[in-house]
Order: sequence, then structure tokens, then C-alpha cells
Amino acid sequence: MRHHGKIERNATLLLALSFVVVTIGGVVEIAPLFYLENTIEDVEGVRPYSPLELAGREIYIREGCTVCHSQMIRPMRDEVERYGHYSLAAESQYDHPFVWGSKRTGPDLARVGGRYSDEWHYDHLISPQSVVPESIMPSYAFLADTRLDGEAVADLMQTHRIVGVPYTDAMIENARFDFVEQATDFGDTGVTERYPGAQQRDFDGNPAVTEMDALIAYLQVLGTMVDFSTFTPEESR
Ligand code: HEC
Repeated sequence: MRHHGKIERNATLLLALSFVVVTIGGVVEIAPLFYLENTIEDVEGVRPYSPLELAGREIYIREGCTVCHSQMIRPMRDEVERYGHYSLAAESQYDHPFVWGSKRTGPDLARVGGRYSDEWHYDHLISPQSVVPESIMPSYAFLADTRLDGEAVADLMQTHRIVGVPYTDAMIENARFDFVEQATDFGDTGVTERYPGAQQRDFDGNPAVTEMDALIAYLQVLGTMVDFSTFTPEESR
């Protein structure tokens, strides 16, 4: 009691001792992270984004879709029942920067892949109200008119490689080829060999590769890499 009174009356001492306590707490939380080899468990099926999907993700970030949409399903019953299996750390392992978001004006998109057809996404992005009359989502019709040639995508992949995404030399060499091939599907199997499970087709119904193709390719892969019919947390080690 006596000592406590001393601390309460002496602001400098209180500050110094608070600092010591916070430091101990900080070290306990942070130090183990330096000794762990990996804080993310690898999960089967999670692969780096294909060039087209990666370009779509850039558009998603550029257009600020994260302002209204999260990509993080929390392990709570209402979320899991609405959106599907809760998000795994591994599923955003190759997201630089991550797009978890913190606001849900619209629904979570972490597992939107495969939920709707390409045509639905196309119509929805051109005019959200044409498919969901009460929607307050803005129109992104210009994406369908903006052509992409994949010129910068190899550089983007290089940058991701620097921060740890395991893009191979072959992936980077073929980046532009894969970019066009995935959105036009002229019959080469390179994309699916390099990016297992990549969906290869004309996403927007326009033979030219547009920003719309890239964005829909990205939306359609979200949440589809891990097969949750066979996934169990223990087996993923
Ligand atoms: C101003 C907020 C806002 C922004 C910005 C926004 N959205 Fe939405 N979004 C919504 C709302 C609200 C809904 C629910 C109504 C609807 O389906 O249109 C929605 C629905 C969606 C859906 C359907 C999800 C589902 O499970 O039904 C997709 C896909 C989607 N948005 C993608 C996007 C993409 C991609 C962008 C960026 C290009 C974007 N949104 C930007 C508000 C927004």
C-alpha cells in the first residue's frame, strides 16, 4: 500500500514503471514471432495469382472496392452460414497488400468465386441496379471499354517475388502470354499448368482483353483455391 501511494503521487515514476510493464508485455507478444519459422500454415491448393487475376486485383484495389467490401470471413456462426468456411491465413498469403477491408457496405467477397456467372458479374459491374434494384453500388461500366495488353504484369510479378511470392522464372517469362491466353482461351494449356485450377475463358464476352476480364477473373478465383470439402485444419500442417 505504502509503495503504491508513492507511485501514484510521482508522475515520472509512474510513467517509467508503466513503460517497463508495457515493454514486458510487448516482448512476450513479439519475441516468439522471431523464432517461428512461419506464422502461416501452408494449405493445399493455395497458389500465387495468375497474371490476369493479379491484374484484376490491382483494379480491385485501384477502384477502392475494399472501401465497401471485406475479404475476411470471421469464425462466427452467422458469418460462416452466410459466406462459407471462415478465412484461412494462407488464403491471403500472396496478397500484397492484403485486401481484408474493415467495412461491409456490401457483402464480404472472400468466397464470391463461382457464386455467380461471368454474365452476372458483367451486368452487375456495368449497372448494379440492373440485377439488384436496391443496390447502392456504383457503376464500373468503363472497365469494359478499357483494354489491357499485360505490358506491366511481368514487372508486377517481379515486385511480388521480391516480397516473397514464389513466382518462378517460367511464370515471369510467360506472364504476358498467360495474361492474354487466360482471357481468350485459344487452346494452350500453359496457364493451367503454371496456375493449377486457373479458369480460362473469355470473361466479358468481348474478344479483346479488357479490365473487365481481369476483374471478373479475379472475382471468380476468390475463395476457390482451397477445397473445403476435404480440408480439415489438422491435416493442413
Ligand atoms: C459504395 C459501396 C460499394 C463499392 C465502392 C463497391 N461495392 Fe460492390 N456492392 C455494394 C453493395 C451495397 C452490394 C450489395 C448489393 C448488390 O449486389 O449490388 C454490393 C455487391 C457486390 C457483389 C455481389 C456480392 C454478393 O455476394 O452478392 C460483388 C461481386 C461486388 N459488389 C463487387 C464489387 C467490386 C469488384 C467493386 C469495385 C470495382 C465494388 N463492388 C465496389 C457496395 C459497393
